[in-house]
Amino acid sequence: MHDIVLIPGDGIGPEITKAVTTIFQEAKAPINWIECSAGLSAHEELGNPLPEETLEAIKKYRIALKGPLTTPVGASFRSINVALRKKFKLHSNIRPAKTLPHIESRFDNIDLVMFRENTEGLYIGKEKWIQEDEHAESIAVVTREASEKIVRAAFEYAKNNGRKKVTLVHKANILKYTCGLFMEVGEQIAAEYPEIEYEDLIVDNMAMQMVMYPNKYDVIVTTNLFGDILSDLASGLVGGLGLTGAANIGDDAAIFEAVHGSAPDIAGQNKANPIAFLLSSLMLLEYIGEQEVADTIRQAIYETLADKSVCTPDIGGSGSTTTFTEAVCERLA
Ligand code: NAI
Ligand code: MG
Repeated sequence: MHDIVLIPGDGIGPEITKAVTTIFQEAKAPINWIECSAGLSAHEELGNPLPEETLEAIKKYRIALKGPLTTPVGASFRSINVALRKKFKLHSNIRPAKTLPHIESRFDNIDLVMFRENTEGLYIGKEKWIQEDEHAESIAVVTREASEKIVRAAFEYAKNNGRKKVTLVHKANILKYTCGLFMEVGEQIAAEYPEIEYEDLIVDNMAMQMVMYPNKYDVIVTTNLFGDILSDLASGLVGGLGLTGAANIGDDAAIFEAVHGSAPDIAGQNKANPIAFLLSSLMLLEYIGEQEVADTIRQAIYETLADKSVCTPDIGGSGSTTTFTEAVCERLA
């Protein structure tokens, strides 16, 4: 049995969490969930969006599955997702976008893996408001250390998974020092992996290239903000945010979550697609060495996708979160 911290989160979080725990139980996945709270719900119930017990639990058990957390726009608390990534030094945000069987999307055979730097860039929260002349400032920080970690993680992944190419995405023409450093690190590390093709692209061009020719890309590595945006774009290429999982990996802890957010527009309506969160939880199983049960659940999900009457509306189905969950469980039984 593995002790894993479970944070259901906000919005659709509790619904997709229920799908994962139900399916894991049916598959006899050897997991003992340690349930903790965080996000807007924790803020409202406990007066703290990131309770000390949650931090202690992640520190102790080191691995967590986390539902989406709502971050209010404007002057309320800052993102708990960003705080967790910083606190536990989760330097690599790994976001695969892969064409799934029986899912219609604009392209076939997409198999991209995005490596997003996860702790710095424009997301460090060093923003200020200057009242006298009404202006706002935001500072971006890029360090050699964090850049090396994410770029090396991308190349190691490529090497260990038979991938052919790494594409580094930047804006070094305008952001000469921050993106310039990121790109310099990319070139240095690429030289250590001569068997893997390396290229760099400016982010605006990359946005167009991904929409026009997504099959040209394989492993992508980029800074925090660009990775945030391009990973939603990559999700769109394979059928939407309901279908892409993610892993936040650090040296001492790992937190698995979906790419998507708390989807307040559909929360509580039994419409949320649980597949993205399920795929995140399969990444978790693989990370802790439970490959076999991960494969079994993945197979059951893939087979279930053939029956649109049980799938959620975002992927053209006429079912719900619970009908999909039940159908996967039936295949596992
Ligand atoms: P979102 O990702 O929650 O939703 C974008 C659109 O995709 C919505 O129309 C939603 O209904 C749909 N969608 C997302 N997940 C889906 C699923 N599993 N099944 C079916 N449809 C799905 O992005 P939005 O609306 O910009 O953000 C909502 C909240 O989530 C914000 O407070 C934001 O800060 C937070 N957020 C949290 C993240 C996290 O916890 N890692 C990541 C992204 C956003
Ligand atoms: Mg995002």
